[in-house]
Amino acid sequence: MKPFVYVTRRLPEPALQSLLQVCEVEIWDHDVPPPYEVMVEKVVDKEALLCLLTDCIDAGLMDAAPRLKVISQCAVGYDNIDVGAATARGIPVGNTPGVLTDATADFAFALLMAAARRIGEAIDYVRQGCWQTWGLTLLLGQSVYGATLGIVGLGRIGQALARRASGFDMRILYYDTTRQPEVESELGIEYRPLEDLLRESDFVSLHVGLTDETQGLMDRRKFALMKPTAILVNTSRGPVVDPEALYDALHEGQIAYAALDVTDPEPLPADHQLLTLPNLIVAPHIASATVTSRNLMAARAVQNLAAGLRGERLPYCVNPEVYG
Ligand code: GLV
Repeated sequence: MKPFVYVTRRLPEPALQSLLQVCEVEIWDHDVPPPYEVMVEKVVDKEALLCLLTDCIDAGLMDAAPRLKVISQCAVGYDNIDVGAATARGIPVGNTPGVLTDATADFAFALLMAAARRIGEAIDYVRQGCWQTWGLTLLLGQSVYGATLGIVGLGRIGQALARRASGFDMRILYYDTTRQPEVESELGIEYRPLEDLLRESDFVSLHVGLTDETQGLMDRRKFALMKPTAILVNTSRGPVVDPEALYDALHEGQIAYAALDVTDPEPLPADHQLLTLPNLIVAPHIASATVTSRNLMAARAVQNLAAGLRGERLPYCVNPEVYG
């Protein structure tokens, strides 16, 4: 008999087909995530769980699933999963790094450009019938070419953003908890302590995972260090930025603009105070949303899940200590 697996959302067809070859599948066939209580019920008889970043996978859920052999997340970030609890229960957790790096870096750069050149406002201006003439001072934005970019978090996506920014002759600074001298010389980028990076940068782009250390990293004190002309881009996780501090910084002109793909809370309610600001653009967490990238992510998630079911080491495992 094939192992029985719970999948918390519809998968791209090719990934679903390969999943069906190795297991029997129950899918939450809706556009919004399954409620926690539903997941608790559904995992009772399952040997594997394929989940998304919108699912809360905590110790309680794992305890409801005595047969669970693997948790396979279809995303690179996994702050929704209590990895410590999984390790303590001997359950490997997989994620999907690498295959969304370029899509995400492309999108971070697209947000940077959109904020710098006020593309959202420009589109609204035309659609609302405001366009009367060519104007010398109409919708003035900020130069990207030659400006200083501060990258916070020099992982795969941060590095991929640096490569894009080099093409615009940007001066590139980075902050990370560990310095990476080889990457510095390869990419022609300079290390700065975070506070110096914030003081010097025209654009600040966040590329850290969400952890206890990075939660609220961008707080009032940090915004106060930034240039009044600075633009913040966030494609990492919403809670890395304190939303009230961001509102005040944008409202009071402490920084000029923000472009977010991730928010706190997520989804951001349409009546949230952030959405009253003219100097903010928000996308609905779609940085990795290309057909290629999402197909590859789902394929990688299936690959991890299948390995876990066979009792093999997951090719992309976030808690390798589970094997030690
Ligand atoms: C998306 O945010 C991901 O973590 O893959």
